[in-house]
Amino acid sequence: MATIWYFSHHGETMVDGLPETVEQGNTEIVAHIINQCLSTQIVPIEPKDPYPKSFEQTLIRARKEHEQSSLPEYQAVPKDNLAENIWFIGYPDWFGRLPRLVASFLTDNDTSGKLILPFSTHEGSSMGTSQLEIQDLCPQAIVKQGLPVRGCHAASSQRAVQNWLVQYYCGLEQLTTSEERTSLND
Ligand SMILES: Cc1cc2nc3c(=O)[nH]c(=O)nc-3n(C[C@H](O)[C@H](O)[C@H](O)COP(=O)(O)O)c2cc1C
Repeated sequence: MATIWYFSHHGETMVDGLPETVEQGNTEIVAHIINQCLSTQIVPIEPKDPYPKSFEQTLIRARKEHEQSSLPEYQAVPKDNLAENIWFIGYPDWFGRLPRLVASFLTDNDTSGKLILPFSTHEGSSMGTSQLEIQDLCPQAIVKQGLPVRGCHAASSQRAVQNWLVQYYCGLEQLTTSEERTSLND
């Protein structure tokens, strides 16, 4: 079975280029749409020290974390999900990069032999360099082509999600051994 891990900022987010308070973050919305298709397990990656609700304050903290290559702490996650072979990893694009909280999660946990399917929401930077960062952090994992979703289109991303799953996920769930998975060259 697969696990859908995601980090999504709560509070103000960018909607069409302007900060707006939302009940659900954009990445969280896409994570749930993926789960509507797969009916699997979905687990948030939550910071121990929550990011401010304010967009501007979050920018300041996130910039500092990037500059210092910080590894912010996250709340405990279920061990059973860490053992799954297929990981979806969702996150917002922060400065064209992977949020350091997600870098922290991928640094701490063994990803060797796993299949990773990244998805990111953004306001124009698409996946940025995040997919390469994931591959660097998880050298023994197979990182599939990621899905970028513009934040303001998150709620209507069903078709993009389905197309991406058909192209990059369908069939993978049947691959049970590490040898079968590493034989994939895409
Ligand atoms: C700290 C920070 C940095 C961001 N940097 C970028 C960026 O470089 N490029 C971009 O397209 N969007 C950027 N955004 C916008 C978010 O990627 C976008 O609003 C995303 O959909 C938010 O997802 P969330 O609601 O799940 O947190 C940034 C947002 C924040 C808070």
